[in-house]
Amino acid sequence: MAEPPPPVELQPQAKTVQELAATNRNEVPERYICKGDNGGVLDDSFPVLDVPTIDFGLLASSTAGGEELEKLRSALSSCGCIQAINNGITSAFLDELREVARQFFALPMEEKKKYSREIGSTEGYGNDMILSEHQTLDWTDRLYLILSPEDKRTLKFWPENPEAFRGILHEYSMKLQVVAEVLLKAMARSLNLEENCFLHQYGDQATLQARFNLYPICPRPDLVLGVKPHADGSAITMLLQDKEVEGLQILKDDQWVSVPIIPQALLINVGDQVEIMSNGIFKSPLHRVVTNSERERITLAVFCIPHPDQEIEPVDELITEARPRSYKKVKDYVSIYFQYYQKGRRPIEAALL
Ligand code: OGA
Ligand code: NI
Repeated sequence: MAEPPPPVELQPQAKTVQELAATNRNEVPERYICKGDNGGVLDDSFPVLDVPTIDFGLLASSTAGGEELEKLRSALSSCGCIQAINNGITSAFLDELREVARQFFALPMEEKKKYSREIGSTEGYGNDMILSEHQTLDWTDRLYLILSPEDKRTLKFWPENPEAFRGILHEYSMKLQVVAEVLLKAMARSLNLEENCFLHQYGDQATLQARFNLYPICPRPDLVLGVKPHADGSAITMLLQDKEVEGLQILKDDQWVSVPIIPQALLINVGDQVEIMSNGIFKSPLHRVVTNSERERITLAVFCIPHPDQEIEPVDELITEARPRSYKKVKDYVSIYFQYYQKGRRPIEAALL
């Protein structure tokens, strides 16, 4: 397979979505309107997905938790996501995190623009990267930060306002490392594998990337998406949802279904790299975000991504006669990700045998 050319970013949209939303209260620019395969007109009622809740207290011990492991295996191989409760992070802490995110997006634009990303790079504050003239844009502004390894952080993008922002985000990243490790081990045990087999591939040099997403009020939720359909290029993704406003949907059995909010839970989904490691047993779900004409929504997604030099491939024990190997060995999977995403294709096609 030929390597795709590296993405070349065109001039970014001059205005953030937040600015567009404040000035155009009744209409949206053409560039944000979904056409054809991207969705077309959205109808406004969707069934609610019964996302299994998994008690991380039960997963953490390497002997107990048989029933919980079975629930985990079943969830990750059907809808590809779970509500992680009893996850070691208090509700009070999650609320503080939501609060600093809210305060950041509420700052005057001049203040936020101190953290603007630069053209061609993903880190910092801004809107969609524009890679083609025809791209439909997402109704969202983001603050994108590398959390770990710590020496890869670019502190100039880390808000100093609100004052508590940096400290809380640092603490959160420490807590998520623990959650990721517990989950990767439990995933292996749920398939009767040696508990470190996914963790080994994930490696100890994994990157955690945080994406704070602001979805401003949108006058045309029937025509505009907050995020277009995609699957994540991570190994796993941990999403802290808005406490009150829904918007995330997952494609299950060819139907879009809404993901409910559990305030104290982390919504964790399988990314493409775990789908590859598990030889397709665990599913990296297609998902999207719908917009809302009454309330804005803020979420924090953290992508857990193996080091780019780490080789990712189906675990040997999961390749059988009944389930032959489906994926090649891949490396630096994220580098081809954006290119495929913006073309509306699934990057995991690149890894299929
Ligand atoms: C993402 C994502 C969902 C949300 O950032 O990749 O899918 O609800 N976010 O913000
Ligand atoms: Ni996503």
